Amino acid sequence: MATSSHTSIRFDDQVAIVTGAGGGLGRSHALQLAARGAKVVVNDLGVARDGTGNTLSPAESVVEEIKAAGGQAIASAASVTDPAAVEEMVNQAMRQWGRVDILVNNAGFLRDKTFSKMTLDDFRAIVDVHLMGAVHCTKAVWEIMRQQNYGRIVMTTSSSGLFGNFGQSNYGAAKMALVGLMQTLALEGQKYGIRVNCLAPTAATRMTEELMRPEDLALLKPECVTPGMLYLVSRDGPTKTILCAGAGTFSRSSVTLSDGVYIGERPDAVELLKANEARLQDRSGETVPTTGFQQSIMEITKARGAKK
Ligand code: NAI
Repeated sequence: MATSSHTSIRFDDQVAIVTGAGGGLGRSHALQLAARGAKVVVNDLGVARDGTGNTLSPAESVVEEIKAAGGQAIASAASVTDPAAVEEMVNQAMRQWGRVDILVNNAGFLRDKTFSKMTLDDFRAIVDVHLMGAVHCTKAVWEIMRQQNYGRIVMTTSSSGLFGNFGQSNYGAAKMALVGLMQTLALEGQKYGIRVNCLAPTAATRMTEELMRPEDLALLKPECVTPGMLYLVSRDGPTKTILCAGAGTFSRSSVTLSDGVYIGERPDAVELLKANEARLQDRSGETVPTTGFQQSIMEITKARGAKK
């Protein structure tokens, strides 16, 4: 395995906002960004695991930890679901430090239930905090990053959205929506030096402590995920990448398009499609389209080819 100089990836003179950074993964992200030179806004509403209650103290205690280690940080108790409070948080960072280079959208909570038992309120609360929370924060920094010609944004997605998890239809839907948001913002941000990526973590936090065995939780330290986030927000980091990270392993997930099967316009199209199911499901030759148009281009090319 390649080795490297210990802390060559640094964030000196950069300002980072990490939402939901009062505990768990966000705390680890904030501490590591600060340790590598970033000035950090430690945001946390300080809610319970299901999103109820609120207190500034978790964010303040992480700020104290950063300061004790010689770093710079300020606390914010803005709820990511409140666009006005989010804007004020960003204004606070601008007043204090004059720029925002990095946004890590990490805040959120769970309301797990099977779809049959889930209320619409439980569904909306999860979409609101994970999807709209990230939208509010991203919207509040977007023009600043465009003006600076520099920005790094991470959306915290989840294997629940990418692959599905029983009892998490609300959470999975919200987390996959963040992938869609990232796919387009990465394209729109490219010209302005803004790179947008997704992080799909696995970590032992209060969110997962009841879902996994203690011996597995011991391997899943939040600190093992944070290097993935640092890689994504670094100056030479990628864009439009879904990085999966947990227990020291890093992998990439992609939304792919298979080569497909041309059936054409005919009355028995559905029967022919069924007869060609094996080819439809065949994943060899799969690609990762760089834009949505590539699907249409592939379809039009095949149709034109068949008509020749
Ligand atoms: P956590 O519960 O320790 O951290 C989430 C933080 O967000 C909490 O400190 C909470 O107070 C804060 N928060 C909740 N609502 C907020 C709001 N409206 N405004 C501001 N802050 C708010 O959980 P964990 O595990 O550290 O989760 C961090 C992120 O990683 C979440 O987006 C989660 O969905 C995601 N994730 C975690 C996984 C894991 O294995 N722990 C797996 C996949 C995704």
